[in-house]
Amino acid sequence: MPSSLSPKTPSESEINMTELVIPNDSNILGNVLGGRVMHWMDLAAATAAHRHCNSICVTASIEGMSFFHPIRLGQLAHLRARVVFVGRTSLMVKVIIHSEDMDTGERLKTTEAYLMFVCLGKDGRPRQVPPLNLETQEEREEHARAEQIRKRRLEMIKSQDPFGQETG
Ligand SMILES: CC(C)(COP(=O)(O)OP(=O)(O)OC[C@H]1O[C@@H](n2cnc3c(N)ncnc32)[C@H](O)[C@@H]1OP(=O)(O)O)[C@@H](O)C(=O)NCCC(=O)NCCS
Repeated sequence: MPSSLSPKTPSESEINMTELVIPNDSNILGNVLGGRVMHWMDLAAATAAHRHCNSICVTASIEGMSFFHPIRLGQLAHLRARVVFVGRTSLMVKVIIHSEDMDTGERLKTTEAYLMFVCLGKDGRPRQVPPLNLETQEEREEHARAEQIRKRRLEMIKSQDPFGQETG
C-alpha cells in the first residue's frame, strides 16, 4: 500500500464536476452569479486537494480569478480541478470551467482560477503534503506558472500586517 507521502500525478487528483444553471443560480440578466461560480470552484478544488493529500484541506487564498464569458441559465458548467503545485504543507489547484449550450453543443472556456490550500492533520495543524509527479511538458509549464503566482501571493502577505490588525 502506498504511503501517505507517495508522489502523485496531477491527473490522480483531477475532479470533474458538472452543474446545470437553474434560476436560483442566476442574476436578473440570466447569467450565473459570480459568487455561485466561486462556490462551485472552491468545492471542486477542495476535493482535488483532499484527494491529493488524503487529508482535509482548507482554502488559504484564491488567485487569478478570471471570468471570460458568462454562463447562461439552462447551460451546463463543466468544472475541471487538478493539483498543479505543491509546497511543504500547501498546494495549489487550478480550476477551469467550460460552459455547454445543450441546444447547439457549443462549449466555451468561461472561467479559471488558482486556489491555494493548506493541508491539515487530525490535530488541525498544517501537515506535509505528498510530492507532485509531473509527467508532461504542459504539467511542467503549469507548475512553473503556479509557482510564480504563489511567490507573488506570499510576498504580498509578507508586506502586510501578519496579525491582521490593520485598521486603515
Ligand atoms: C490557512 C491556515 C491554515 C494557515 O495557517 P498558518 O498557521 O498561517 O500556517 P503556516 O504559517 O504554518 O503556513 C502553512 C503553509 O500555508 C501557506 N500559507 C499560509 N497562508 C497562506 C495564504 N493566505 N495564501 C497562500 N498560502 C498560505 C504557507 O506559505 C505555508 O506553505 P508551505 O508549508 O507549503 O511552505 C490558516 O491561516 C487558516 O486556518 N486560515 C483560514 C482557512 C479557512 O477558514 N478557509 C476557508 C474555509 S475552508
